[in-house]
Amino acid sequence: VAKDINTIRWENGKVKIIDQTKLPAKLKVIEIKSFYGMIDAIKTMKIRGAPAIGAAAAFGLVLGAKGIKTASVKEFTRKISLLARTMILTRPTAVNLSWAVNRLLNIVNDDQVSDVKELKNKLLKETFKIADEDIEANKSISKFGSRLIKRGRTVLTHCNAGGLATVSFGTALGVIREAHKKGKKIKVMATETRPRLQGAKLTMWELKRYGIPSTLITDNMVGYFMSKNGIDAVVVGADRIAANGDVANKIGTYGIAVLAKEHGIPFYVAAPLSTIDADVSSGKKIPIEERNGREVQFIGRERIAPAGIKVSNPAFDVTPSNLITALITDAGIIRKPYKKKIKKMFKRRK
Ligand code: MRU
Repeated sequence: VAKDINTIRWENGKVKIIDQTKLPAKLKVIEIKSFYGMIDAIKTMKIRGAPAIGAAAAFGLVLGAKGIKTASVKEFTRKISLLARTMILTRPTAVNLSWAVNRLLNIVNDDQVSDVKELKNKLLKETFKIADEDIEANKSISKFGSRLIKRGRTVLTHCNAGGLATVSFGTALGVIREAHKKGKKIKVMATETRPRLQGAKLTMWELKRYGIPSTLITDNMVGYFMSKNGIDAVVVGADRIAANGDVANKIGTYGIAVLAKEHGIPFYVAAPLSTIDADVSSGKKIPIEERNGREVQFIGRERIAPAGIKVSNPAFDVTPSNLITALITDAGIIRKPYKKKIKKMFKRRK
């Protein structure tokens, strides 16, 4: 489909990404040539969204590997492991980042390979696999999730969990796209998502591109519209899901989930299994990224708060699993009790 977005791709030994900080004004593709170029792109959110930064981290490590000039596997392993550690620290909440990095490290640590060149090739191959699998996962999520969306309904989404947040297609927005494609005549409401405005800038840009009827609202309008029966379901993405089903996602998600519960509105979380962190038992243990206060004090270049004040800027919050109607994964829909069901799903996958 021509409207599909290619968030990240490999071309002639370099990585091409859509610079998301330029949207919606410009659809600009930039070239990332080095490991540190990728670190900067992730930190400054030129590329963002959990699955997209997972793939970006892998491509970044491949660039890092290219720059390691040694024929010694031992030396290569030492150096790439250091880069991996730096990469994992770029953004701490989305688990896809360390998940992708660890997939590459498993290859490096495989004793079978005794040649650096072969290792580098294998790393690139695994990265392609990570990227391809993400697209496949999104398509499965969309198929499963679209069945939950009833005809003619209005669906609320928060932040951007679309093609831009993934390698292509999207998770929460993928569900919405698939429901639209099936002719369900749905409408979408998107929150602007302060402070970085991913909803206004990115989600609305995508929805317009796909021709899906949508309305932009500010974050603080959600309760108003829910109380007026203007929202029938909520679908959001996730940055990390704990083993008990608690979900870390963009700041503001928790508030929306509480409001949905009060109004009896289903609240769905769409994410690939790679976003589930089986090593973290509850949402309380998920590290929450604290970003620069300037993001709150400024809108674009304009200062909207006085200088020299105290600002807090957590980028994510945790929605406890009891507020979640279902998790929509690439392996199917998961409902309560989450801990048991998640465990079962992981076992089946192995
Ligand atoms: O800070 P961001 O823009 O990287 O946060 C993104 C989100 O919170 C998304 O909802 C989440 O990563 C899911 S993306 C499919």
